[in-house]
Amino acid sequence: MTREELIKKAREARALAYVPYSKFKVGAALLTKSGKVYLGANVENASYPLCNCAERNALYHAMMNGEKKEDFVAMAVTGKTAGPISPCGACRQVISELFPKDAPIYLTNLEDALLETTIVELLPFAFDDSDL
Ligand code: THU
Repeated sequence: MTREELIKKAREARALAYVPYSKFKVGAALLTKSGKVYLGANVENASYPLCNCAERNALYHAMMNGEKKEDFVAMAVTGKTAGPISPCGACRQVISELFPKDAPIYLTNLEDALLETTIVELLPFAFDDSDL
């Protein structure tokens, strides 16, 4: 699957967002070594802190289908932003635990903005199991 195809999947995932409060839909798509794609969208709640982001939902979706950190090869995230969408701090922490350090993360918007990055760039000096 190409980068553009994975980005298209993230846009499809975005359509599944449940966002009655923020109205801000986000979509994420995770590609595995075997070629499977797992989607995630944000799911909100009237109790606002319980809102779950697209990136975390995609990762948890994949893990509940038996995928492991080393199985992931790329992730795409998209939203209606002016430039490439910026994952929140909580998602960066979760990505850093569950997604390979050097795998590409494509941050996009609904137009042609694209930032290809990694979790190490997004969350340098991350807290991890070696700190425990
Ligand atoms: N959100 C995501 O799903 N991912 C991001 O990268 C940024 C923020 C969600 C959380 C909430 O449902 C809405 O966007 C507004 O913050």
